[in-house]
Amino acid sequence: MVKSLKTIKSPIEGELKRFESHFRASMSTSVPLLDKITYYIVRSKGKQVRPMFVFLAAKLCGKVRESTFIAASLVELLHTATLVHDDVVDDSNTRRGFFSINALWKNKIAVLVGDFLFSKGMLLALQNKEYRLLEIVSDATQAMAEGELLQIEKARRLDIEESVYYEIIRQKTASLIASACQAGASTTSESEENVEKMRLFGEKIGLAFQIRDDLFDYGTEDVGKPLGIDIKEKKMTLPLIYALEKSSRPQKRKIINIIKRHSDKPEKVREVIEFVRQSGGLNYAEQAMYQLRQEAFEILHSFPLSDSRQSMEDLVIFVTDRKK
Ligand code: IPE
Ligand code: IPE
Ligand code: MG
Ligand code: MG
Repeated sequence: MVKSLKTIKSPIEGELKRFESHFRASMSTSVPLLDKITYYIVRSKGKQVRPMFVFLAAKLCGKVRESTFIAASLVELLHTATLVHDDVVDDSNTRRGFFSINALWKNKIAVLVGDFLFSKGMLLALQNKEYRLLEIVSDATQAMAEGELLQIEKARRLDIEESVYYEIIRQKTASLIASACQAGASTTSESEENVEKMRLFGEKIGLAFQIRDDLFDYGTEDVGKPLGIDIKEKKMTLPLIYALEKSSRPQKRKIINIIKRHSDKPEKVREVIEFVRQSGGLNYAEQAMYQLRQEAFEILHSFPLSDSRQSMEDLVIFVTDRKK
């Protein structure tokens, strides 16, 4: 059963409350325009699942400390920065049910706001001499940029295979969720083995997280961001890759041609979406996601049963069965 995010948050309510003010304070600036924009960002906050992963991984391995709060703010700052940049890259005008930063203030400002949030995150760790955290998240930050660029390269050539798709989502999404779990665990545990286990767990969940996100694009539900935008941006995700793989040559050529030359036409995008739906690609991607979730559960179950392990399990179910 999928529990609500509110229920899952309840065992770490105190931590999350403190996190909120920590996070807000970590964005402080004396530049009025920037202050206005960070205020807007804080108000239109997301699900905050990454801080939850930080706290739950920390609790699973020990007792939450000051460093855990720094890890949570750091990870959410980087996440926010990449979303601000991602909406520029994807030319997307909505985020979390509101206008995106680039839609309201244009690309120039969005690029700089993203840079500001990145630096605030890195400085937060540095000023607190949290070098281990810095190392963990810097790796993820590099991977995220590489993943976004690999994706652009593939969108130009339209020759993506499943293995490359997994490489892209491992870099652009799973790396940060892996680092959230790894960072959280590293603040409370001396055991390298446990820290590494949490990283691997987070990586699997991160892959599953992005597969779910890619499925949204083929749906009709309001998820607070545009639908059908992946095809418009020539992004080939798992459902489409599968559909193409099992279609006939002429059909494949036809679909690729639409994506290449007509992805700016809504009626043509609809045709591709219909093709993917008919092919069973959505079900295929969903099964792949549940397989990853199963692998993550196996890692999680190597830890003794506790309240935090249960909450982590609920969070994993939420992430893979979420509606937005
Ligand atoms: C969106 O992440 C970006 C992806 C990796 C798909 P979230 O769905 O966690 O975004 P917010 O923070 O809740 O808006
Ligand atoms: C996820 O990429 C965002 C990052 C990991 C930077 P997407 O472009 O697929 O995600 P959404 O749909 O815009 O949130
Ligand atoms: Mg995007
Ligand atoms: Mg993107």
